Amino acid sequence: MANIQHPASSIQHPETDMERRGFLKRGLLWLMYVSGAAVLAYPAFSFMGFRKITKKRIVFQPDELSGPVCFKEGVYLIGKGADVKALSARCTHLGCIVNYDAVSRNFKCPCHGSIFGPSGRWISGPAGKDLISIPAKTGPGGVVEVELEI
Ligand code: FES
Repeated sequence: MANIQHPASSIQHPETDMERRGFLKRGLLWLMYVSGAAVLAYPAFSFMGFRKITKKRIVFQPDELSGPVCFKEGVYLIGKGADVKALSARCTHLGCIVNYDAVSRNFKCPCHGSIFGPSGRWISGPAGKDLISIPAKTGPGGVVEVELEI
């Protein structure tokens, strides 16, 4: 049996070719836009999400541990012996260094007025969070070591 083709089926349809080309062009352009945007956005997003953590070791010698609260290199040390507690002096609002007020026994931020209690608990102000507690190790001879993330 002979294969009979309709005479119209062998005819190229210029409109269909143009639609296909247009679709491919638009698809390629869209792909280029998306790829370009990804290439441009990657450094910005990686910069925002990137945080290099460096640790700084701070050692409090026994002669530096005078009074109920001691300060050294951005760290407050509260208490003595086994009950020693270390707090980051950075305000949890925007990072200003808080001051210890010996009269009220509170930590006060000079920038926007946040107040933290004697153990670093947030009391008032825009900070809204407690001062960050840092693990402290008491070593031989009363040396206290603190590792601060900066
Ligand atoms: S930085 Fe401390 S209250 Fe704003």
